[in-house]
Amino acid sequence: MQRKILVLNDLHVGSSYGLMPPSFLDCSGNLHSQNVGQRYLWERFTALMQRLSPQKIDAIVLNGDLLDGGQPKSKGTPLTLHRLPDQREACIKVLEEVKNTFPSAKFFWISGTPYHELEDEVLQVAYKLIGTPQTVRRTLKLRVGKAVVQFHHETAFTSAVTKSGSLEREIINGWLAEAMNDWSAAHCEVRAHCHYFCYVGRKDRLAIVCPGWQLQTDYSTKSSPTKNIPDIGCIVLTVDDDLLDFGCCPVTFTPYLYKHPGPSIVDISGRGK
Ligand SMILES: [Fe+2]
Ligand SMILES: [Fe+2]
Repeated sequence: MQRKILVLNDLHVGSSYGLMPPSFLDCSGNLHSQNVGQRYLWERFTALMQRLSPQKIDAIVLNGDLLDGGQPKSKGTPLTLHRLPDQREACIKVLEEVKNTFPSAKFFWISGTPYHELEDEVLQVAYKLIGTPQTVRRTLKLRVGKAVVQFHHETAFTSAVTKSGSLEREIINGWLAEAMNDWSAAHCEVRAHCHYFCYVGRKDRLAIVCPGWQLQTDYSTKSSPTKNIPDIGCIVLTVDDDLLDFGCCPVTFTPYLYKHPGPSIVDISGRGK
C-alpha cells in the first residue's frame, strides 16, 4: 500500500518575512501589497503548486507556525499584519492555493510554537478553509497499512554547523518509548520549527526536519548575516508499507527546495573616475 503526504510548515503569515498573498485587503479594508521578499516567496509557493500538481497527494499535513502571531517580545515590529484576524484571513488565502491544487486530499493540522500561534487560531483557519470543524493536534500519528509516521512541530533547534544530532535522538527516543512505555512504533519522525532541512536514517527509521516558508528575520541575523540562512520549500513523503517486509524504512521523501536570496552588492568601483 502506498500513499503520498505533502508536508507544509512555518509559513509565518503576518511576518514581514513570511508568506503573504498578493493585494490583501485587511478587515479595515486597507490594502497590503507584498514586499520584495514576500513576492519572492509567493512566486516560489505558487510555482511549487504547479510542480506538485501532476502528483496524486493523499494527505496534506500542516505542521505548525502557519501564523507569526503578535510578536510581543519585539512589540510587533517584524509584522506586516498586526491583527490576528488579518493573519488568519491571509493564511486562508495562502492555503486556498493548496486546497485548489489538491481538492481531494485530506488535511491534517498541528499547532506550532505557542509564541506564534495557539491551537484556537489554527482551528479557526482550518474550519474556514475546509468548511467543517477540524481537529488540531500537538502530535499526529498517521498510519498507512503497517507503516506509521509521527508528526510534531518542535524539535531541538541548533545553530551549530552539525544539525543531525537532535534528529538521531528523535529516532532513539522513539525506540525507548516503545521499549520502556510500550508505545506503538513510528517509522518516521517528521519535525518543523527549525527552518532548516536535515534528515537522518537508520535501517528502518527516518527522522526529518522540513524546510519552511520564512526568509531571514532580524532575529535570525542577530549574531551573523550568514550563520542561520533558512531553507525554503517543502517535503513530499512516500509511504510504502511493503518495504517493511524487507526490513527497510517504509518512508522515502522528495525535497522541493528554493534558494534563499542573498544580499545585493552595491558596486562603487566606478566612483572617482
Ligand atoms: Fe517557525
Ligand atoms: Fe516553531
